[in-house]
Amino acid sequence: MAIALPRPDLQPPPTTDDSRDRGGKAQPLLIVENLRKHFPIRGGALNRKIASIKAVDDVSFVVLKGETLGVVGESGCGKSTLARVLMGLVAQDQGRIIFDGELVGGPHGLSLRDLRRNMQIVFQDSDSSLNPRLSIADSIAYGPRVHGMSRAQALSLAHDLLRRVGLDPALFALRYPHELSGGQKQRVNIARALALDPRLVILDEAVSALDKSIEAQVLNVLRHLKETLNLTYVFISHDLNIVRYVSDRMLVMYLGEVVEIGPTDAIYRGPKHPYTKALLESRLGADPRHRVEAAPLAGDAPSPVDPPSGCRFRTRCLFAEDVCASKAPSLGRSNNHGAHLAACHMGDPQSGHSRASLAPAPLPRVADAVVC
Ligand SMILES: Nc1ncnc2c1ncn2[C@@H]1O[C@H](COP(=O)(O)OP(=O)(O)O)[C@@H](O)[C@H]1O
Ligand code: SF4
Ligand SMILES: [Mg+2]
Repeated sequence: MAIALPRPDLQPPPTTDDSRDRGGKAQPLLIVENLRKHFPIRGGALNRKIASIKAVDDVSFVVLKGETLGVVGESGCGKSTLARVLMGLVAQDQGRIIFDGELVGGPHGLSLRDLRRNMQIVFQDSDSSLNPRLSIADSIAYGPRVHGMSRAQALSLAHDLLRRVGLDPALFALRYPHELSGGQKQRVNIARALALDPRLVILDEAVSALDKSIEAQVLNVLRHLKETLNLTYVFISHDLNIVRYVSDRMLVMYLGEVVEIGPTDAIYRGPKHPYTKALLESRLGADPRHRVEAAPLAGDAPSPVDPPSGCRFRTRCLFAEDVCASKAPSLGRSNNHGAHLAACHMGDPQSGHSRASLAPAPLPRVADAVVC
């Protein structure tokens, strides 16, 4: 694939026709099938594997072209591991990743090098990706240089990208990371991520460490870049207010699994999974204008080393019944990528759960539910 040449003028590239597009809008940009990543825990005299952390367990979803897919869930549920596996930074144990119709990895698949031209990541820690010994312009130019671009072209591209993220190259190109604020560094990281002209950018808590006012500015930069550069985002965040603001669809993770996925508006209007509902009520509970009698989500999540049998949420679920311990609910699949799906027996008329019915009723407020 050709590397995009620097764009010295600031005319936005065409947003409709991407010459790299293979299957049109109907073909998801990313298809993730049955992805699994378990981290071994070693111990004993022989340092053998004694257990494993089920960080990502049988995760399947798609990312549509041009959308922002929000990924939410409590700390430790596997969001960053999922992002790292997608980027090829850690190898999956199982599962397939398909980028615009092309399998990633394997003898005939897309190489990691090609994948990284198409897909980039911005982490929460704005220092982690910047080499303290490289100037800002050299940091941004580094990726294109590795991929064969001349130094002059790469620096010209770096200047253009600095402008695009709202930093004047005359003021910032020759500075070093320690001379920048957190918000400025994160803008540089975004510029770095864009230097290879990717189609998909994973933002892993990319604005979470910023002050609220700076966060809003960086979110606006991201929105503008998405529109002008024809980007697709996977937006990982623990902040449900921001996810609602930026995402077209969202995916909810719990203990390494996807428990709900669907259009953001539909999920906020009527969450189908008790965990999602509790997360959304926790968000309201944090607002002093809303009174809550009981914490919607009590206690910590169980250990991902030994997750509960059946439904992993059952130890915290107010609606858990025997079937929830004996059988894992399935998220199901739909040919409609905009479908609203949840992995809960209450939504499956065949499950045997007493609340399951052919016409699913909206979930009661967590505070009103009877504890089983
Ligand atoms: N490199 C690693 N080695 C061992 N365990 C890890 C590693 N990275 C993450 N984990 C574990 O995997 C689980 C998921 O972590 P992570 O993906 O960082 O969650 P999140 O981003 O949702 O907070 C956690 O239990 C974490 O401790
Ligand atoms: S399957 Fe059972 S335990 Fe799991 S979320 Fe649904 S009702 Fe709760
Ligand atoms: Mg994380």
